[in-house]
Amino acid sequence: SARFTYPGGELDLPIVEATEGSSGVALGKFLSETGLTTFDGGFVNTASTKSAITYIDGDAGILRYRGYPIDQLAKQSTFIEVSYLLIYGELPTPSELDDFTNRIQRHTLLHEDLKRFFDGFPRNAHPMPVLSSAVNALSAYYQDSLDPKDPEQVELSTIRLLAKLPTIAAYAYKKSAGQPFLYPDNSLSLVENFLRMTFGFPAEPYEVDPEVVKALDMLFILHADHEQNCSTSTVRLVGSSQANLFTSISGGINALWGPLHGGANQAVLEMLDDIKANGGDTKDFMNRVKNKEAGVKLMGFGHRVYKNYDPRAAIVKETADKILQTLGVTDDLLDIAKGLEDVALHDDYFIERKLYPNVDFYTGLIYRAMGFPTRMFTVLFALGRLPGWIAHWQEMNADPGTKIGRPRQIYTGYTERDFTAM
Ligand code: MLT
Repeated sequence: SARFTYPGGELDLPIVEATEGSSGVALGKFLSETGLTTFDGGFVNTASTKSAITYIDGDAGILRYRGYPIDQLAKQSTFIEVSYLLIYGELPTPSELDDFTNRIQRHTLLHEDLKRFFDGFPRNAHPMPVLSSAVNALSAYYQDSLDPKDPEQVELSTIRLLAKLPTIAAYAYKKSAGQPFLYPDNSLSLVENFLRMTFGFPAEPYEVDPEVVKALDMLFILHADHEQNCSTSTVRLVGSSQANLFTSISGGINALWGPLHGGANQAVLEMLDDIKANGGDTKDFMNRVKNKEAGVKLMGFGHRVYKNYDPRAAIVKETADKILQTLGVTDDLLDIAKGLEDVALHDDYFIERKLYPNVDFYTGLIYRAMGFPTRMFTVLFALGRLPGWIAHWQEMNADPGTKIGRPRQIYTGYTERDFTAM
Protein backbone atom coordinates (compact mmCIF):
# COMPACT_ATOMS: atom_id res chain seq x y z
CA SER A 1 0.00 0.00 0.00
CA ALA A 2 1.00 3.63 -0.26
CA ARG A 3 0.14 6.75 1.66
CA PHE A 4 -1.95 9.26 -0.29
CA THR A 5 -2.61 12.84 0.67
CA TYR A 6 -5.83 14.39 -0.55
CA PRO A 7 -7.63 17.65 0.31
CA GLY A 8 -9.59 15.89 3.11
CA GLY A 9 -6.62 14.19 4.81
CA GLU A 10 -4.38 11.14 4.32
CA LEU A 11 -5.12 7.49 3.51
CA ASP A 12 -3.20 4.21 3.17
CA LEU A 13 -4.38 2.72 -0.10
CA PRO A 14 -3.52 -0.58 -1.83
CA ILE A 15 -1.55 -0.43 -5.08
CA VAL A 16 -3.46 -2.20 -7.84
CA GLU A 17 -2.01 -3.48 -11.11
CA ALA A 18 -3.06 -1.83 -14.35
CA THR A 19 -4.70 -4.97 -15.67
CA GLU A 20 -7.59 -3.60 -17.64
CA GLY A 21 -7.32 -1.29 -20.61
CA SER A 22 -5.28 1.86 -20.42
CA SER A 23 -3.79 3.17 -17.22
CA GLY A 24 -6.71 5.64 -17.20
CA VAL A 25 -9.14 2.74 -16.79
CA ALA A 26 -6.99 1.20 -14.06
CA LEU A 27 -6.86 4.51 -12.24
CA GLY A 28 -10.63 5.00 -12.54
CA LYS A 29 -11.16 1.48 -11.17
CA PHE A 30 -8.67 2.09 -8.39
CA LEU A 31 -10.30 5.35 -7.38
CA SER A 32 -13.82 3.96 -7.44
CA GLU A 33 -12.81 0.78 -5.57
CA THR A 34 -11.11 2.76 -2.85
CA GLY A 35 -14.08 5.13 -2.63
CA LEU A 36 -11.86 8.14 -3.22
CA THR A 37 -14.18 9.17 -6.02
CA THR A 38 -16.97 7.52 -7.95
CA PHE A 39 -17.26 6.67 -11.62
CA ASP A 40 -19.71 9.44 -12.36
CA GLY A 41 -21.31 9.62 -15.82
CA GLY A 42 -21.84 13.33 -15.15
CA PHE A 43 -18.18 13.88 -15.97
CA VAL A 44 -18.73 12.43 -19.42
CA ASN A 45 -15.96 13.33 -21.93
CA THR A 46 -13.72 14.45 -19.12
CA ALA A 47 -12.96 11.98 -16.37
CA SER A 48 -15.01 8.93 -17.28
CA THR A 49 -15.40 8.44 -21.00
CA LYS A 50 -16.23 4.94 -22.22
CA SER A 51 -15.31 4.16 -25.80
CA ALA A 52 -15.01 1.11 -28.06
CA ILE A 53 -12.89 2.76 -30.74
CA THR A 54 -9.19 2.86 -29.80
CA TYR A 55 -7.27 0.79 -27.29
CA ILE A 56 -3.97 1.98 -25.87
CA ASP A 57 -1.77 0.18 -23.41
CA GLY A 58 0.92 2.74 -22.73
CA ASP A 59 3.05 0.35 -20.68
CA ALA A 60 3.26 -2.24 -23.44
CA GLY A 61 3.28 0.28 -26.32
CA ILE A 62 0.10 -1.15 -27.86
CA LEU A 63 -2.30 0.83 -30.04
CA ARG A 64 -5.28 -0.76 -31.75
CA TYR A 65 -8.17 0.65 -33.77
CA ARG A 66 -11.33 -1.43 -33.21
CA GLY A 67 -9.09 -4.30 -32.12
CA TYR A 68 -6.68 -4.22 -35.12
CA PRO A 69 -3.01 -3.43 -34.36
CA ILE A 70 -2.04 -0.07 -35.83
CA ASP A 71 1.14 -1.37 -37.45
CA GLN A 72 -0.82 -3.96 -39.44
CA LEU A 73 -3.36 -1.36 -40.54
CA ALA A 74 -0.60 1.08 -41.45
CA LYS A 75 1.17 -1.48 -43.63
CA GLN A 76 -1.78 -3.32 -45.17
CA SER A 77 -4.72 -0.96 -45.49
CA THR A 78 -5.54 2.52 -46.74
CA PHE A 79 -6.67 5.67 -44.96
CA ILE A 80 -10.15 5.35 -46.53
CA GLU A 81 -10.46 1.78 -45.18
CA VAL A 82 -9.28 2.86 -41.72
CA SER A 83 -11.71 5.80 -41.77
CA TYR A 84 -14.53 3.33 -42.49
CA LEU A 85 -13.28 1.02 -39.73
CA LEU A 86 -13.15 3.78 -37.12
CA ILE A 87 -16.53 5.25 -38.03
CA TYR A 88 -18.57 2.10 -38.69
CA GLY A 89 -16.68 -0.39 -36.49
CA GLU A 90 -15.73 -2.93 -39.20
CA LEU A 91 -13.31 -3.03 -42.11
CA PRO A 92 -15.31 -2.54 -45.34
CA THR A 93 -16.02 -5.33 -47.80
CA PRO A 94 -14.90 -4.51 -51.38
CA SER A 95 -18.40 -3.32 -52.35
CA GLU A 96 -18.79 -1.26 -49.13
CA LEU A 97 -15.42 0.33 -49.86
CA ASP A 98 -16.45 1.16 -53.44
CA ASP A 99 -19.68 2.70 -52.28
CA PHE A 100 -17.97 4.69 -49.48
CA THR A 101 -15.25 5.96 -51.85
CA ASN A 102 -17.80 6.95 -54.52
CA ARG A 103 -19.95 8.80 -52.01
CA ILE A 104 -16.93 10.73 -50.74
CA GLN A 105 -15.84 11.57 -54.30
CA ARG A 106 -19.28 13.03 -55.06
CA HIS A 107 -18.86 15.63 -52.31
CA THR A 108 -15.32 16.97 -52.74
CA LEU A 109 -16.38 20.28 -54.32
CA LEU A 110 -16.93 23.37 -52.20
CA HIS A 111 -19.95 25.61 -52.72
CA GLU A 112 -18.78 28.54 -54.94
CA ASP A 113 -19.87 31.07 -52.28
CA LEU A 114 -17.85 29.23 -49.65
CA LYS A 115 -14.79 29.55 -51.90
CA ARG A 116 -15.17 33.33 -51.73
CA PHE A 117 -15.12 33.05 -47.92
CA PHE A 118 -11.34 32.51 -48.21
CA ASP A 119 -10.95 35.96 -49.80
CA GLY A 120 -11.84 37.60 -46.50
CA PHE A 121 -8.70 36.34 -44.77
CA PRO A 122 -5.39 38.19 -44.92
CA ARG A 123 -2.83 36.67 -47.26
CA ASN A 124 -0.51 35.83 -44.35
CA ALA A 125 -3.25 33.99 -42.41
CA HIS A 126 -2.12 30.78 -40.74
CA PRO A 127 -4.00 27.91 -42.46
CA MET A 128 -5.37 26.53 -39.14
CA PRO A 129 -7.84 29.31 -38.33
CA VAL A 130 -8.81 29.36 -42.01
CA LEU A 131 -9.43 25.60 -41.83
CA SER A 132 -11.47 25.68 -38.63
CA SER A 133 -13.50 28.70 -39.76
CA ALA A 134 -14.33 27.12 -43.11
CA VAL A 135 -15.31 23.85 -41.40
CA ASN A 136 -17.55 25.75 -39.01
CA ALA A 137 -19.02 27.62 -41.98
CA LEU A 138 -20.13 24.27 -43.47
CA SER A 139 -22.95 24.45 -40.88
CA ALA A 140 -24.21 27.56 -42.71
CA TYR A 141 -23.88 26.11 -46.23
CA TYR A 142 -25.16 22.60 -45.61
CA GLN A 143 -28.14 23.12 -43.35
CA ASP A 144 -29.78 19.84 -44.42
CA SER A 145 -27.28 17.77 -42.43
CA LEU A 146 -27.09 19.39 -39.00
CA ASP A 147 -29.39 17.28 -36.82
CA PRO A 148 -27.23 14.99 -34.61
CA LYS A 149 -30.23 12.78 -33.87
CA ASP A 150 -31.16 12.08 -37.51
CA PRO A 151 -29.03 9.14 -38.79
CA GLU A 152 -29.35 10.19 -42.45
CA GLN A 153 -28.20 13.73 -41.68
CA VAL A 154 -25.33 12.42 -39.56
CA GLU A 155 -24.27 10.18 -42.44
CA LEU A 156 -24.46 13.05 -44.93
CA SER A 157 -22.44 15.43 -42.75
CA THR A 158 -19.89 12.63 -42.17
CA ILE A 159 -19.40 12.06 -45.90
CA ARG A 160 -19.32 15.79 -46.61
CA LEU A 161 -16.62 16.36 -44.03
CA LEU A 162 -14.45 13.46 -45.21
CA ALA A 163 -14.80 14.73 -48.78
CA LYS A 164 -14.41 18.46 -48.22
CA LEU A 165 -11.72 18.67 -45.55
CA PRO A 166 -8.87 17.90 -48.03
CA THR A 167 -10.27 20.55 -50.42
CA ILE A 168 -10.55 23.14 -47.61
CA ALA A 169 -7.07 22.24 -46.33
CA ALA A 170 -5.55 22.67 -49.79
CA TYR A 171 -7.35 26.01 -50.27
CA ALA A 172 -6.13 27.21 -46.86
CA TYR A 173 -2.61 26.52 -48.15
CA LYS A 174 -3.21 28.12 -51.55
CA LYS A 175 -4.60 31.18 -49.82
CA SER A 176 -1.45 31.59 -47.70
CA ALA A 177 0.76 31.00 -50.76
CA GLY A 178 -1.22 33.49 -52.87
CA GLN A 179 -1.87 30.85 -55.53
CA PRO A 180 -5.08 30.00 -57.46
CA PHE A 181 -7.42 27.24 -56.24
CA LEU A 182 -7.77 24.00 -58.18
CA TYR A 183 -11.00 22.04 -58.51
CA PRO A 184 -10.76 18.50 -57.11
CA ASP A 185 -10.02 15.74 -59.63
CA ASN A 186 -12.20 12.85 -58.52
CA SER A 187 -10.38 10.30 -60.63
CA LEU A 188 -7.58 10.53 -58.04
CA SER A 189 -7.36 8.95 -54.59
CA LEU A 190 -8.12 11.15 -51.58
CA VAL A 191 -4.44 11.73 -50.77
CA GLU A 192 -3.33 12.27 -54.37
CA ASN A 193 -6.19 14.69 -54.93
CA PHE A 194 -5.19 16.63 -51.82
CA LEU A 195 -1.53 16.78 -52.92
CA ARG A 196 -2.53 17.97 -56.39
CA MET A 197 -4.88 20.66 -55.04
CA THR A 198 -2.07 21.77 -52.68
CA PHE A 199 0.98 21.72 -54.93
CA GLY A 200 -0.50 21.71 -58.44
CA PHE A 201 -1.44 24.61 -60.73
CA PRO A 202 -4.51 24.93 -62.98
CA ALA A 203 -4.00 23.56 -66.49
CA GLU A 204 -0.62 22.09 -65.59
CA PRO A 205 -0.01 18.36 -65.26
CA TYR A 206 0.75 17.29 -61.71
CA GLU A 207 2.89 14.29 -60.94
CA VAL A 208 3.74 12.86 -57.58
CA ASP A 209 5.85 9.84 -56.63
CA PRO A 210 3.49 6.98 -55.61
CA GLU A 211 5.77 6.37 -52.60
CA VAL A 212 4.96 9.87 -51.34
CA VAL A 213 1.21 9.25 -51.73
CA LYS A 214 1.58 5.94 -49.89
CA ALA A 215 3.61 7.51 -47.09
CA LEU A 216 1.15 10.36 -46.54
CA ASP A 217 -1.78 7.93 -46.60
CA MET A 218 0.03 5.87 -43.96
CA LEU A 219 0.79 8.91 -41.81
CA PHE A 220 -2.92 9.75 -41.90
CA ILE A 221 -3.66 6.19 -40.66
CA LEU A 222 -1.17 6.62 -37.80
CA HIS A 223 -2.86 9.88 -36.78
CA ALA A 224 -6.45 8.73 -37.32
CA ASP A 225 -7.32 8.29 -33.64
CA HIS A 226 -5.70 8.36 -30.23
CA GLU A 227 -8.61 8.05 -27.76
CA GLN A 228 -9.32 10.85 -25.27
CA ASN A 229 -6.64 13.37 -26.21
CA CYS A 230 -7.18 17.13 -26.08
CA SER A 231 -8.85 17.60 -29.48
CA THR A 232 -10.99 14.45 -29.37
CA SER A 233 -12.38 15.21 -25.94
CA THR A 234 -13.08 18.74 -27.23
CA VAL A 235 -15.08 17.30 -30.14
CA ARG A 236 -17.01 15.10 -27.69
CA LEU A 237 -17.57 17.92 -25.24
CA VAL A 238 -18.86 20.35 -27.89
CA GLY A 239 -20.96 17.56 -29.42
CA SER A 240 -22.42 16.58 -26.04
CA SER A 241 -24.46 19.79 -26.19
CA GLN A 242 -25.96 18.31 -29.41
CA ALA A 243 -24.10 20.85 -31.51
CA ASN A 244 -23.84 19.69 -35.14
CA LEU A 245 -20.92 17.64 -36.46
CA PHE A 246 -19.29 20.45 -38.49
CA THR A 247 -19.12 22.83 -35.55
CA SER A 248 -17.92 20.11 -33.15
CA ILE A 249 -15.09 19.18 -35.55
CA SER A 250 -14.18 22.84 -35.91
CA GLY A 251 -13.70 22.92 -32.11
CA GLY A 252 -11.39 19.89 -32.36
CA ILE A 253 -9.29 21.58 -35.05
CA ASN A 254 -8.75 24.57 -32.76
CA ALA A 255 -7.75 22.32 -29.86
CA LEU A 256 -5.28 20.52 -32.11
CA TRP A 257 -3.45 23.69 -33.06
CA GLY A 258 -1.49 24.19 -29.82
CA PRO A 259 2.22 23.29 -29.57
CA LEU A 260 1.50 20.69 -26.89
CA HIS A 261 -0.82 18.78 -29.24
CA GLY A 262 -0.75 18.99 -33.06
CA GLY A 263 1.86 21.72 -33.09
CA ALA A 264 4.45 19.50 -31.41
CA ASN A 265 6.24 18.39 -34.61
CA GLN A 266 6.81 22.04 -35.52
CA ALA A 267 8.38 22.57 -32.07
CA VAL A 268 10.65 19.56 -32.76
CA LEU A 269 11.88 21.07 -36.02
CA GLU A 270 12.57 24.36 -34.29
CA MET A 271 14.59 22.54 -31.63
CA LEU A 272 16.56 20.60 -34.28
CA ASP A 273 17.23 23.84 -36.17
CA ASP A 274 18.51 25.41 -32.96
CA ILE A 275 20.85 22.48 -32.29
CA LYS A 276 22.16 22.73 -35.86
CA ALA A 277 22.72 26.48 -35.50
CA ASN A 278 24.72 25.78 -32.33
CA GLY A 279 27.09 23.34 -34.02
CA GLY A 280 24.92 20.16 -34.08
CA ASP A 281 26.41 18.55 -30.94
CA THR A 282 23.65 16.15 -29.82
CA LYS A 283 25.53 14.85 -26.74
CA ASP A 284 26.06 18.39 -25.51
CA PHE A 285 22.38 19.22 -26.05
CA MET A 286 21.25 16.12 -24.13
CA ASN A 287 23.61 17.04 -21.28
CA ARG A 288 22.04 20.47 -21.14
CA VAL A 289 18.63 18.77 -21.00
CA LYS A 290 19.85 16.58 -18.12
CA ASN A 291 21.23 19.61 -16.30
CA LYS A 292 17.85 21.28 -16.72
CA GLU A 293 19.49 24.33 -18.25
CA ALA A 294 17.09 27.26 -18.52
CA GLY A 295 15.46 27.49 -21.95
CA VAL A 296 16.62 24.01 -23.04
CA LYS A 297 13.64 21.76 -23.67
CA LEU A 298 13.63 18.34 -25.25
CA MET A 299 10.69 18.27 -27.67
CA GLY A 300 9.15 15.14 -29.22
CA PHE A 301 10.17 12.81 -26.40
CA GLY A 302 7.89 11.05 -23.92
CA HIS A 303 4.09 10.89 -23.82
CA ARG A 304 1.58 11.14 -21.01
CA VAL A 305 0.25 7.65 -21.82
CA TYR A 306 3.21 5.79 -23.35
CA LYS A 307 5.82 4.54 -20.92
CA ASN A 308 7.27 2.51 -23.73
CA TYR A 309 8.11 3.27 -27.37
CA ASP A 310 5.04 4.79 -29.07
CA PRO A 311 4.20 2.18 -31.74
CA ARG A 312 3.47 5.01 -34.18
CA ALA A 313 6.93 6.52 -33.68
CA ALA A 314 8.76 3.39 -34.86
CA ILE A 315 6.81 3.36 -38.15
CA VAL A 316 7.31 7.11 -38.63
CA LYS A 317 11.07 6.76 -38.19
CA GLU A 318 11.23 4.04 -40.85
CA THR A 319 9.13 6.23 -43.18
CA ALA A 320 11.36 9.27 -42.64
CA ASP A 321 14.39 7.32 -43.91
CA LYS A 322 12.49 5.93 -46.88
CA ILE A 323 10.83 9.16 -48.02
CA LEU A 324 13.93 11.30 -47.75
CA GLN A 325 15.72 8.70 -49.86
CA THR A 326 12.87 8.48 -52.41
CA LEU A 327 12.81 12.24 -52.78
CA GLY A 328 16.60 12.50 -52.87
CA VAL A 329 16.50 14.92 -49.95
CA THR A 330 19.40 15.14 -47.53
CA ASP A 331 18.46 16.87 -44.32
CA ASP A 332 21.05 17.41 -41.57
CA LEU A 333 18.17 17.63 -39.14
CA LEU A 334 17.42 13.92 -39.67
CA ASP A 335 20.95 13.04 -38.56
CA ILE A 336 20.62 15.32 -35.55
CA ALA A 337 17.25 13.72 -34.68
CA LYS A 338 18.75 10.23 -34.89
CA GLY A 339 21.69 11.41 -32.80
CA LEU A 340 19.38 12.61 -30.04
CA GLU A 341 17.45 9.34 -30.11
CA ASP A 342 20.68 7.37 -29.92
CA VAL A 343 21.89 9.32 -26.87
CA ALA A 344 18.50 8.88 -25.15
CA LEU A 345 18.33 5.12 -25.77
CA HIS A 346 21.76 4.59 -24.18
CA ASP A 347 21.62 7.00 -21.26
CA ASP A 348 20.17 5.91 -17.89
CA TYR A 349 18.73 9.38 -17.27
CA PHE A 350 16.39 9.05 -20.27
CA ILE A 351 15.86 5.29 -19.88
CA GLU A 352 14.77 5.65 -16.23
CA ARG A 353 12.38 8.45 -17.13
CA LYS A 354 11.04 6.39 -20.06
CA LEU A 355 11.73 9.23 -22.46
CA TYR A 356 11.42 7.72 -25.94
CA PRO A 357 10.84 9.63 -29.18
CA ASN A 358 7.11 10.06 -29.73
CA VAL A 359 5.04 10.25 -32.92
CA ASP A 360 5.87 13.93 -33.39
CA PHE A 361 9.63 13.43 -33.44
CA TYR A 362 10.12 12.49 -37.10
CA THR A 363 6.87 13.55 -38.80
CA GLY A 364 7.94 17.18 -39.33
CA LEU A 365 11.04 16.01 -41.22
CA ILE A 366 8.90 13.92 -43.56
CA TYR A 367 6.40 16.72 -44.20
CA ARG A 368 9.22 19.16 -44.85
CA ALA A 369 10.83 16.79 -47.35
CA MET A 370 7.44 16.48 -49.10
CA GLY A 371 7.40 20.28 -49.52
CA PHE A 372 4.93 21.30 -46.80
CA PRO A 373 5.75 24.49 -44.90
CA THR A 374 5.67 24.06 -41.10
CA ARG A 375 2.40 26.00 -40.79
CA MET A 376 0.71 23.13 -42.69
CA PHE A 377 1.79 20.44 -40.20
CA THR A 378 -1.23 20.79 -37.93
CA VAL A 379 -3.48 20.90 -40.99
CA LEU A 380 -2.08 17.51 -42.02
CA PHE A 381 -2.70 16.20 -38.51
CA ALA A 382 -6.31 17.42 -38.71
CA LEU A 383 -6.79 15.59 -42.04
CA GLY A 384 -5.57 12.37 -40.46
CA ARG A 385 -7.49 12.80 -37.19
CA LEU A 386 -10.85 13.58 -38.85
CA PRO A 387 -12.26 10.01 -38.94
CA GLY A 388 -11.33 9.52 -35.27
CA TRP A 389 -13.11 12.72 -34.27
CA ILE A 390 -16.18 11.71 -36.31
CA ALA A 391 -16.17 8.21 -34.80
CA HIS A 392 -16.07 9.62 -31.26
CA TRP A 393 -18.78 12.17 -31.97
CA GLN A 394 -21.02 9.48 -33.48
CA GLU A 395 -20.32 6.99 -30.69
CA MET A 396 -21.22 9.57 -28.05
CA ASN A 397 -24.37 10.67 -29.86
CA ALA A 398 -25.56 7.11 -30.41
CA ASP A 399 -25.32 6.34 -26.68
CA PRO A 400 -28.73 7.03 -25.08
CA GLY A 401 -26.99 7.49 -21.73
CA THR A 402 -24.95 10.50 -22.91
CA LYS A 403 -25.41 13.63 -20.87
CA ILE A 404 -24.06 17.04 -21.67
CA GLY A 405 -20.42 17.20 -20.58
CA ARG A 406 -19.78 19.14 -17.44
CA PRO A 407 -16.30 18.92 -15.94
CA ARG A 408 -16.18 18.81 -12.17
CA GLN A 409 -14.95 21.97 -10.53
CA ILE A 410 -13.28 22.35 -7.17
CA TYR A 411 -13.87 25.91 -6.08
CA THR A 412 -10.74 27.71 -4.86
CA GLY A 413 -11.95 31.32 -4.71
CA TYR A 414 -13.16 33.55 -1.92
CA THR A 415 -15.86 32.40 0.46
CA GLU A 416 -18.59 34.95 1.10
CA ARG A 417 -17.46 38.61 0.89
CA ASP A 418 -19.26 41.66 2.17
CA PHE A 419 -20.16 43.90 -0.80
CA THR A 420 -21.20 46.87 1.38
CA ALA A 421 -17.76 47.03 2.97
CA MET A 422 -16.32 48.41 -0.31
C1 MLT B 1 -2.33 12.26 -30.26
O1 MLT B 1 -2.07 11.48 -31.18
O2 MLT B 1 -3.45 12.75 -30.12
C2 MLT B 1 -1.23 12.66 -29.35
O3 MLT B 1 -0.33 11.65 -29.10
C3 MLT B 1 -1.72 13.37 -28.12
C4 MLT B 1 -2.31 12.53 -27.04
O4 MLT B 1 -2.49 11.33 -27.14
O5 MLT B 1 -2.60 13.11 -25.98
